[in-house]
Amino acid sequence: MKDFKRTLVTAALPYANGGVHIGHLAGVYVPADIYVRYLRLRGREVLFVCGSDEHGVPVTIRARKEGCTPQEVVDRYHGLIKDAFERFGIAFDIYSRTTSAVHRQTASDFFRKLYEKGEFLEQESQQYYDPEAKTFLADRYITGECPHCHAAGAYGDQCEKCGKDLSPTELINPHSTISGARPELRTTRHWYLPLDRHQEWLGKWITEDHKEWRTNVMGQCKSWLDMGLKPRAVSRDLDWGIPVPVEGAEGKVLYVWFDAPIGYISNTKELLPESWEKWWKQDDTRLVHFIGKDNIVFHCIVFPAMLRAEGSYIFPDNVPANEFLNLEDDKISTSKGWAVWLHEYLDELPGKQDVLRYVLTANAPETKDNNFTWADFQARNNNELVAVYGNFVNRALVLTKKYYDGVVPACGALNDADRAAIAEFAEVKERVEALIEQFRFRDAQKEAMNLARIGNKYLAEAEPWKIVKSNPARVETILYLSLQLAANLAIAFEPFLPQSSERLRKMLGMGAPQWERLGSIDLLPAGHRLGEVELLFEKIDDAVVEAQVEKLERRKAERLAAEQRPEPQRPDIAFEDFEKLDIRVGTVVECERVPKTDKLLRFLIDDGQEQRTIVSGIAGHYAPETLAGRQVCFIANLPPRKLRGIESRGMILSAVDFRTGALAVATVEKPVAPGSQIG
Ligand code: MF3
Ligand code: ZN
Repeated sequence: MKDFKRTLVTAALPYANGGVHIGHLAGVYVPADIYVRYLRLRGREVLFVCGSDEHGVPVTIRARKEGCTPQEVVDRYHGLIKDAFERFGIAFDIYSRTTSAVHRQTASDFFRKLYEKGEFLEQESQQYYDPEAKTFLADRYITGECPHCHAAGAYGDQCEKCGKDLSPTELINPHSTISGARPELRTTRHWYLPLDRHQEWLGKWITEDHKEWRTNVMGQCKSWLDMGLKPRAVSRDLDWGIPVPVEGAEGKVLYVWFDAPIGYISNTKELLPESWEKWWKQDDTRLVHFIGKDNIVFHCIVFPAMLRAEGSYIFPDNVPANEFLNLEDDKISTSKGWAVWLHEYLDELPGKQDVLRYVLTANAPETKDNNFTWADFQARNNNELVAVYGNFVNRALVLTKKYYDGVVPACGALNDADRAAIAEFAEVKERVEALIEQFRFRDAQKEAMNLARIGNKYLAEAEPWKIVKSNPARVETILYLSLQLAANLAIAFEPFLPQSSERLRKMLGMGAPQWERLGSIDLLPAGHRLGEVELLFEKIDDAVVEAQVEKLERRKAERLAAEQRPEPQRPDIAFEDFEKLDIRVGTVVECERVPKTDKLLRFLIDDGQEQRTIVSGIAGHYAPETLAGRQVCFIANLPPRKLRGIESRGMILSAVDFRTGALAVATVEKPVAPGSQIG
């Protein structure tokens, strides 16, 4: 590998149109944070840059829905995300945003430079235009019937019913979601980054110079390269974004995927206005992008092509993209309400940041999609953090308190068991280092946990509590070594579980963690006084995780209900047709359940002339006795029907709530003579 002097770590800029959930954390922010903390511990020069991605169509859609401005939307979510990251302890050097003045200028200048160098193509194309709202329509703003499954309400880019990708011109009967108008095709002009011109060098740079990239990343890159790269539009007709800085480009903005990665540069510049170029333009800087798999093409192909076209920037050295994390065996979906939000987790499980970090790393989707369940969350906390790590540390500390008043005893002669344990944990440092350098955080964390397992086994076999009277010198050695092991744990877990490491160091009376001392057995000298003993981790009760699962289910049900739409209006009919219906009010004389059925009620209705029998399938919604004496509306001139041997003469009218499915019988606002006609 090249000899790099410093590492610039970026984490994908989250969209500021929603919160951050566990999928984002497992895929991007936790691994990036582990990596950065590790590099800092090793004394490397490192910078960790992130911020909110605030442009793009979804922001404008949300603003329209909520009746506010796009700026208000991103202000709110930027605040929410930034605060959640801070509380969670992601150690960014800067978390800024793409609506900042620095970014606007940087992205604008970047475009302008490419424009002046002739790095773009200008092309005309046909796009849908809303003649009423007087605006071009992003694909998402157009709905219509899906050409594949014929569901109503498919979007111009995708049908959510059958999942097929669409282009807006394929929609049957398209209309604008802004005004409802039928959109018309109009000619518009855009700037394109001709990726085909970059095909050759990109192919060589990726497949020959970066063979070490993860197979999932390499696989996606190769498939793009094999298909042949094509020009990509870098501007849009939209009123939210950074204006295209070219004469005659009114109403056009930079495409969000053009400006967002430049945000990495802008945010570095904002933090270090004097020295940012060292991080972006010197080839002794190693640039590493942490992203999710849906971002691979932008970071491995499009952004490098932009950087190359600009000419003065370095390229990413690695892009350790993760696969996706599922939740309770289902795809995380914010629109379906199926997600665990970081800000809610922090509110509802306070002080448990490290538990979430631990579980997400243990289940990191590094090579394939992985799954998060609350049951696993509880099990990993109770059986690993509490029972292995916490338990070992607690035993070592409590025994020292008890036997030596909290002072580290002296180390005597070592026996074979001591030497075996020491040899085992001496290897951990190198292993963790090798794994982290390969971005294998899951296995690296396992190695750290293995230290605690070594400790538990050592204590369980040495049984100091049994020989404290008979062999006090031996007990001193056992506890001396156990405490050294605990101190090693504080160091080894520092990149993974920083808050617990800090607490453990306090309990041990240790100073700042020194990574290079990991594996040593003289971290705490004999005679050193320990701090106060506390529990490092606490058991999580069933009720806590059950409440979380319930919340998920409840949200899903609520979303599903809210998604239901009223039945579309039926085709118009002639007035004469309406007049044929004989709708009347009747008084319920008798109402009882039809025996041996779940659904049917038998009514005896006073219709002003006689008592007629009507059978109605509403027993699931009404207890018969609650209806006796009430007035109901019914259709009087339908042909008689036999139901369960009972002749039914008419139909009782009722409404079915399309959100909840609940049924309400139609009645009149004040009593009328039975048999009165409705019309
Ligand atoms: N906002 C994008 C997403 O969440 C990621 C942008 S990464 C950047 O998928 F490179 F564009 F900044
Ligand atoms: Zn469809």
